[in-house]
Amino acid sequence: MYKYISVPQTQDNQSTQSIKAEIKSLLKKKNAILLSHVYQRMEIQDIADFVGDSFELSKIARNTPAEVIIFCGVHFMAETAKLLSPHKTVLLPEENAGCPMADMINPCDVEELRKTHPNTPVMCYVNSSLAVKAESDYCCTSSNAVEIARRINSNKIIFIPDKCLGYWVQKNLPEKEIILFNAFCPTHYQINAQRIKEIKQELPQVFTLAHPECERSILELANYIGSTSQMYKFAQEDKHETFLVLSELGLVERMSRNIKGKFFCTPYPSPICPNMKLNTLESVLECLKKDKYEIRIPEYGVKNGLFERAENTVNNMFEILSYNF
Ligand code: 13P
Ligand code: SF4
Repeated sequence: MYKYISVPQTQDNQSTQSIKAEIKSLLKKKNAILLSHVYQRMEIQDIADFVGDSFELSKIARNTPAEVIIFCGVHFMAETAKLLSPHKTVLLPEENAGCPMADMINPCDVEELRKTHPNTPVMCYVNSSLAVKAESDYCCTSSNAVEIARRINSNKIIFIPDKCLGYWVQKNLPEKEIILFNAFCPTHYQINAQRIKEIKQELPQVFTLAHPECERSILELANYIGSTSQMYKFAQEDKHETFLVLSELGLVERMSRNIKGKFFCTPYPSPICPNMKLNTLESVLECLKKDKYEIRIPEYGVKNGLFERAENTVNNMFEILSYNF
């Protein structure tokens, strides 16, 4: 049984080349941009205008002059792009590309937490629904969660939904009390600490990078912890040559392809997010041809202020970071 594997490179064939060319031409014709999360299939990353982590993609969605955004990621990412750019058309190629972690919490859970911890600000990970964002005060992504919690003017913060990222925030800010909710990312949660210890024994020179969605016993074994883009940048700049990457396979593929002269490996079996992998070149083409699946804000969401409250929560993320566009 393998403990770890390096990542094989995929090659373009004639049919993928022609789909890519058709997608490129339709993007131009429709004044559209294609945003891809780092966990997308490599062939989608290849044709994207921008590839990045949740925070980087949110900033681009907010600033782009394009009229249409094709979001290759999962539903909460496309929905966040819509919150940031309500007048643009946002399309998600696969309607069922959801996030199980985002589905583990609903607005009633937030209400309960607020009742149990009155006058405590609620910080929600961007991996959450519009309705949950509407019940929260600040949004965050994995790249800025610690900084936002540091800046919130309260010694006690309710952090939802990811208990692993919440633990990472708590570890970095021992002076504050972080109230956690019991949700997690099944893709990162499956990474096994015993297996990582074995890999480290076999590859003593390995430098371990981990996403903060990993369980705390994994984070304790990591040499560097950061968002997908932070890990990528770190691996580019760091002097080590062999990296064990504890995150979704798409990131490891991207590192292996683009960062020359270094060796990247992933535990075996590799952590794969099935939802992220739903988008394919074929579904991106279909999405451009038929304008589907559009992220729409239901009328009742506008009337009852739900949309506006969720919008504020996301905008508060930029405001508290004093982010100037
Ligand atoms: P980042 O893009 O912030 O690294 O988060 C990863 C993730 O969970 C995407 O679902
Ligand atoms: Fe959700 Fe995890 Fe997939 Fe990200 S990797 S979309 S958190 S299930």
